[in-house]
Amino acid sequence: MKKAIYPGSFDPITNGHLDIIERTSKIFDHVTVAVAINNKKNKFLFSDIKRKKFIEQSIKHLKNVDVKLFDGLLINFVIAEKSNIIIRGLRVLSDFEYEFRMALMNRNMNEAITTLFMMPHENYTHVSSSIIKEIATLNGKIDNYVPKEILNEIIECINDIKSS
Ligand code: COA
Repeated sequence: MKKAIYPGSFDPITNGHLDIIERTSKIFDHVTVAVAINNKKNKFLFSDIKRKKFIEQSIKHLKNVDVKLFDGLLINFVIAEKSNIIIRGLRVLSDFEYEFRMALMNRNMNEAITTLFMMPHENYTHVSSSIIKEIATLNGKIDNYVPKEILNEIIECINDIKSS
């Protein structure tokens, strides 16, 4: 069985992420979306449990996808999951340098692990989690950018944070 791991912060998941998950699920037997508990930004708006739950609510239509939290080195998680494929999305040229360095470093640490890049639909190349959070915080519409299953909950969470 060919398993792929799609890692990220997902703070929160966007339609761009979902597009990559859907594409990956058509190519691999199984996809695990790996939600980083920590990363170098370390300033998540949503808790790890919430970030994982948002993804689970968004992928109910996909039968070969699950969601797991991970901490520590990504390559160790990939090995523990009995996979050797990391999926990353490339939206624009400016993503490339960061992704290139991360993929090469992961390959240097474990030659058996390969990173594959996928392009999301062009409707989402300008979307990022930070932009969505900023727009929602300023009461702008984010309907086209986050999965419909989680739209209201994201807005409620952001309103709670604003009023606390
Ligand atoms: N559509 C829309 N937006 C997308 C996207 C897509 N298809 N793909 C990425 N993005 C956006 C995200 O929304 C995020 O936006 P933000 O910066 O505004 O929040 C940004 O691109 C990058 O996010 P993401 O793809 O979630 O990656 P990340 O850089 O947050 O996460 C890890 C990177 C978690 C995979 C990486 O840090 C890691 O592997 N950590 C574990 C420790 C480790 O092994 N380190 C060594 C690595 S060599």
